[in-house]
Amino acid sequence: MEKLNDLRALLIHEVKDVYSAEEQILTALPKMIDKASNSQLKKSLQDHFRTTRNQRQRLDKVQDLLKVSEDEKGPGKKGGLLGLFGKTEVCKGMQGIIHEGEKIMNEDIDREVLDAAIIAACQKIEHYEICAYGTLKAYAQELGLTQVVKLLDETLAEEYEADVLLTNLAVFGGLNRKAETSPSENGSAKSSAESRGTTSRGRSSATSSSRSASTPSRGTSTKKSAPAKKAGTVSKKKAAPAKKSSASSKKKAGARR
Ligand SMILES: [Fe+2]
Repeated sequence: MEKLNDLRALLIHEVKDVYSAEEQILTALPKMIDKASNSQLKKSLQDHFRTTRNQRQRLDKVQDLLKVSEDEKGPGKKGGLLGLFGKTEVCKGMQGIIHEGEKIMNEDIDREVLDAAIIAACQKIEHYEICAYGTLKAYAQELGLTQVVKLLDETLAEEYEADVLLTNLAVFGGLNRKAETSPSENGSAKSSAESRGTTSRGRSSATSSSRSASTPSRGTSTKKSAPAKKAGTVSKKKAAPAKKSSASSKKKAGARR
């Protein structure tokens, strides 16, 4: 592997990594679409397949702008033979996430539970991508690559959107709740949430509203990370009175001496 001398080299390296991730997603999605039972879930996965193809094309443009040599470009330009030619590498992170998703899909699993599992698998993918694209965008901003920033930002927005859509299907669309129903246990088809007096909200695989949960963790400077900053500020403020009280307790201790 070549030595990475500067941020531009790191950006190119990471672009190739996410290119491999997108390629793997394009291979994995049709299986997920095939296995999904819920029509809305199926449709949103089909839509996301098309979106992912566009995202791969966008990465081709990014590579052109970054003047990545033909030899080093993502495998899409070489007929989709992942990692077989050129200096392309497979994104191991995405490989692991997809492998986990496929493992659960191959379990003996009820169809509603499978839908919930597919959503969870897809959200793991989305969160990885949000992190990856957020970081790439920050690097491109740092390097003043305006056109690259624009392209990466379009994809980043789509990844956020896909994540929110999945949360909506799982939590508000009731797919997680459907997965809770267990007719085989007592024949009454009573939801386990009902019996415990809870709902699926808040415990779902598709848990958090994605923007706060998946704020890019590697030093991005996107607007989306603002809420996290704010939260940090608030907690600092809250910590302030503790200092004061410790100071005042020292005073009191001094007075007692
Ligand atoms: Fe993507």
